[in-house]
Amino acid sequence: MNNFIFYNPTKIIFGRETIKAIGKEIPKDSRVMITYGGGSIKRNRVFDEVMAALAGFDVAEFGGIEPNPTYETLMQCVERVKNEKVDYLLAVGGGSVIDGTKFIAAAALYEGEPWEIVKNYGMTVKRALPFGTVLTLPATGSEMNSGAVVTHRALNAKLPFSNPALFPEFSVLDPTKTYTLPAGQIGNGVVDTFVHVTEQYLTYPVNGKLQDRFAEGILLTLIEEGPKALAEPENYDVRANLMWCATLGLNGLISAGVPQDWATHMIGHELTALKGLDHGKTLAVVLPAMLKIRAREKKEKLLQYAQRVWGIQSGDDEARIGEAIDKTRDFFESMGLPTRLCEYGIGTDVIPEVVGQLKAHGMVKLGEKRDVTPELVEELLQNCL
Ligand code: NZQ
Ligand code: ZN
Repeated sequence: MNNFIFYNPTKIIFGRETIKAIGKEIPKDSRVMITYGGGSIKRNRVFDEVMAALAGFDVAEFGGIEPNPTYETLMQCVERVKNEKVDYLLAVGGGSVIDGTKFIAAAALYEGEPWEIVKNYGMTVKRALPFGTVLTLPATGSEMNSGAVVTHRALNAKLPFSNPALFPEFSVLDPTKTYTLPAGQIGNGVVDTFVHVTEQYLTYPVNGKLQDRFAEGILLTLIEEGPKALAEPENYDVRANLMWCATLGLNGLISAGVPQDWATHMIGHELTALKGLDHGKTLAVVLPAMLKIRAREKKEKLLQYAQRVWGIQSGDDEARIGEAIDKTRDFFESMGLPTRLCEYGIGTDVIPEVVGQLKAHGMVKLGEKRDVTPELVEELLQNCL
């Protein structure tokens, strides 16, 4: 097992009717800014519950944070936070709202041009406003990690950043608040969580036995519960299990002491920036092709995955790996996500664009062995058409 430091200060408040707890988590004299997206929280009344929980607080609101949040929109909120002397942020929504709020929290106290925060992957952040979250879409793990992804529309760049100052102080996870998710977002969330786990698990063995079992446990739960969430949207136990999987899938637990890949995610971010494809859908396309093209480098873990996650016992190594990859693709499709670019109306023209953008962003040696080069990405995307 590799050396590691595990640090995660986010308090999780999980379960039914937990929104009412937020009043106790925020200092009483705070000026609070509620941040949210396109209005789902107003339609499903989560907003009303949050307002009731904040009775007695000085509260402002900023809506309109879009999926794949943009620097341009977020800077409007940063101006308001500064002008209105806001000192506590409360993100209410999915990963985009939480990620956007992390940017706002850092940018509001940043000396210099805030895009530098993203350009430098978060390393130049020294402090940030405190914030909490109310999660409405289990997928990204942003509710319990210190990372975020922001898009600069004018530059066509979607880039990740992180900093220890960007952990939420608390996150409320009420599974009943996910009942109103459209089927497409349920699928996106399950696939995103699945791929977070594979990015930290399908690399090479370092004898991280517990991390492997955690990862396999999350994958098995997603395979078991994901389709049920589509069939029975108001099944509390199903939603609760998926929500906790998403949070634990990317909160530092399963990555402690093991190698990490993330090449699928970096390619996916470029596809979203160029074509507007949902994050989960980019992963559904790229992951199966990535596992196939890197099957030799990932052989030992792929064989373990085939056996422990998919129960594949027979056939030679190549056949077992092939079957595991096919089952992965079938699972994504069963969650309603096509796994070929053509099914999203995207053709060969995207290939040089993605490769060009990766080069422009310095992402020329991706993956756990730094061997995912622009040439390999080009070949991989040919296999995604
Ligand atoms: O904007 P509103 O109206 O709220 O609607 C949202 C949005 O249209 C809707 N939605 C959310 N909760 C709902 C709901 N609709 C009905 N009922 C509810 N309860 O869902 C749509 C998508 O929301 P979004 O927040 O964009 O989705 P997600 O949570 O999948 O977040 C995706 C973003 O997170 C980034 C992605 O790149 C992408 O920008 N990621 C962040 C990570 C992190 N911080 O660690 C890691 C991930 O790998 C990922 O890259
Ligand atoms: Zn993701």
